Amino acid sequence: MTPIATVQRKKTLHDIPSAELAGKRVVVRVDFNVPMNGAEITDDTRIRAALKTIQYLIKNHAKIILLSHLGRPKGTVQESLRLTPIARHLSTLLNQRILKNDDCIGPEVEAPISQLQNGEVILLENTRFHVEETDNNPEFAKKLAQLGDLFVNDAFGVSHRADASISGITNYLPAVAGFLVEEELSILTKVLNTPERPLISIIGGAKISSKFGVLQNILGRVDTLIIGGGMSFTLLKAQGYEIGKSLYEPDLLEAAKTFLENAKKSTTKLILPLDHIVVATFDNNAPQQTVDTENIPKDQMGVDVGPKTIAAIEAEIQTAKTIVWNGPLGVFEMDNFAHGTLEVAHMLAKSDAFTLIGGGDSAAAIAKANVTNQMSYISTGGGATLEFLEGKQLPGITSLQNLENPE
Ligand code: 3PG
Repeated sequence: MTPIATVQRKKTLHDIPSAELAGKRVVVRVDFNVPMNGAEITDDTRIRAALKTIQYLIKNHAKIILLSHLGRPKGTVQESLRLTPIARHLSTLLNQRILKNDDCIGPEVEAPISQLQNGEVILLENTRFHVEETDNNPEFAKKLAQLGDLFVNDAFGVSHRADASISGITNYLPAVAGFLVEEELSILTKVLNTPERPLISIIGGAKISSKFGVLQNILGRVDTLIIGGGMSFTLLKAQGYEIGKSLYEPDLLEAAKTFLENAKKSTTKLILPLDHIVVATFDNNAPQQTVDTENIPKDQMGVDVGPKTIAAIEAEIQTAKTIVWNGPLGVFEMDNFAHGTLEVAHMLAKSDAFTLIGGGDSAAAIAKANVTNQMSYISTGGGATLEFLEGKQLPGITSLQNLENPE
C-alpha cells in the first residue's frame, strides 16, 4: 500500500519558539482562491481557515507578508482577479488594517515591506499575474524569498502544485507548515492510516478518470467503498450492464474491469448504485423514471441514485465510525437531480461518525443541504485533498523542512 506522508516529520509553526517571531518578516502562502461574483466573495471558507496562522503571527509581533493566487490568469494581469476585495474582507475579519500592493515582487513591493511595523499585515497581488509562478521559475522564487526571513505554507489547497510561491521559494528560505496545513495533514493522515472503524468512503462525481487514483489507493484501506454519480456508469458498463445514454469513459473500461477484479479480492466491500433516476434528455424538467441497474432503458441516462441505493448507503452510514465523502451522487447542481446527494448529506449530518468532507463539489453539496456546521471536518483542498488520498506526495509539503527529532 502506498505510504502516506505524515506531518509529524515536517516542521510547523509550533516548532519555532514564538519569541523568535518578533520583528521577523514572515512570508505566508495562503490559498485565497475563493469563489467570486464580481467583487463579491461568495464563500470565504478558505480565508477564515487561514486566520489562525495569521492571528498567531500578529500576536507574536511578526511582520506578515501574504501571498496568494486567484483563478488562472496565466501570467497576465486581469483586473477581475486582483486580490483587492479579498484584502478588504480580511481586514474586516481581522479587525485591523491590511496593506495591499498591486504586485508581488519588485521595488514597489520592497518599499512598503521595509516600512512594515511588527504585527502589520500586507497582502501582495495575485502571484499568477506572473507566468514564472506556475513555471516555478527559480529567479522569481528567489525574488519572493527575498521579501522575508521565514516561509510558512498555509495553503493546503494549492500544495499539490509545484508553483514558485509554494515549493520554489523553499529553496531560499527556512520553510515550515502553518496551522491549517498541519491540521489538514493530521486529519487526512489519521483517517487513512489509523481511522476508527468501520471506515466507509463515498466517492462520486462525473468522471471516473479524475478519481481513479483515489479509488485504487483506498481499496483495501476502507471497509466499505460506495461509488455513485456519473463515474459509476463506467464501472457498471464494465460489469456488462446496459447503461443507456449515461455518461461513461470508454478509455477506462479495461482499467475499470481490473479495478472490479481487485475489489473482489480485497477486504473492501464495494457498493455500486442499485437503482437510478433516469431521464431521456439532460434537462432539469425532463420526466423522470426510477429503474434498477438491470433495467436502464437504452434511450435514457442516469442523473441521480434511486431509493434502493440511498437505503443501502444509509445502512452503511448507520454502523460507520468514520466516513469520508468526496463527490456528488448525481447532477446535484440541477435541483431535480440533487435528491440522492442531499439525502446523503443529511444522513452524514445525523451520524455520530467522524465525517470528513473532501473540498470542492462535496463541500458545495453540504452547503446546499445546509448542514455544513454538522460535519466533523471539511477539507479546504479540492485537487490537493484528492492527490493526498491518492497517496501522492504533495510538492508544497515535501519541500518543507523536516523535523530533526520526530517523536
Ligand atoms: C484550488 O482551488 O483547488 C486551488 O486553489 C488550486 O487552484 P488551481 O487548480 O488553479 O491550481
